[in-house]
Amino acid sequence: MQIIRAKDYEDMSRKAANIISAQILMKPDCVLGLATGSTPIGAYAQLVKRCQKGDLDFSKITTVNLDEYKGLDRDNEQSYYYFMNQNLFGKVNIDLSRTFLPDGTESDSDKACRDYDKIIEEAGGADLQLLGLGHNGHIGFNEPGDEFVAKTHCVDLTESTIKANQRFFASIDEVPKQAYTMGIQTIMQAKKILVVVSGADKAAIVKEAFFGRITPKVQASVLQLHRDVILVADEAALSEI
Ligand code: GLP
Repeated sequence: MQIIRAKDYEDMSRKAANIISAQILMKPDCVLGLATGSTPIGAYAQLVKRCQKGDLDFSKITTVNLDEYKGLDRDNEQSYYYFMNQNLFGKVNIDLSRTFLPDGTESDSDKACRDYDKIIEEAGGADLQLLGLGHNGHIGFNEPGDEFVAKTHCVDLTESTIKANQRFFASIDEVPKQAYTMGIQTIMQAKKILVVVSGADKAAIVKEAFFGRITPKVQASVLQLHRDVILVADEAALSEI
């Protein structure tokens, strides 16, 4: 694993955007695995700037996102589709028909998950997968558990994740309790993985995930087995290692 130390959030965002930009420049028709959460927002803003300046071309890019809340449609301001549209898709020259997320409106979980795996497979898997890190070590919405689940599946969100995501909703009751998430095997099949982490509140989990035991109790720990992982984190997030 390569660790890139950034000064602060801004610096982390620029450094992450540099890696994503390099991927797009090297392979203009690549498949990007994308993430939501507050951490990648700065990197997306950088990519938007570069695209608007004419330095980056998204026209041939395909994207597959990690996850989506079950029960939210694309127009719902809290859906991950809406987030992606606000932060990236709506601001760059991407072909929207090649941007994919699990279908949150599909109530048949098995169907939603199978359909999404098929989309990822047909796209050929991610060339570069961007990941944030949950406080409990989750990646996508793969929550701590007794196993690593390989493929896209429907998850019951943990109490701590619901609480952490409450800030985006009017009240905790509005936070969906389930989500569809890409599985660990699919994430691990990405050719390259870029993890972005910021803030002192993530320092303990960074240490546990990347230097602790590999266990499904800390889902991100599986990334230690991937041969091309880049961790871009600010000093605060790296303060315990
Ligand atoms: C959410 C997302 C994850 C994300 C995590 C961390 O639960 N499903 O993909 O990595 O939160 O979010 P943040 O970057 O806001 O700390």
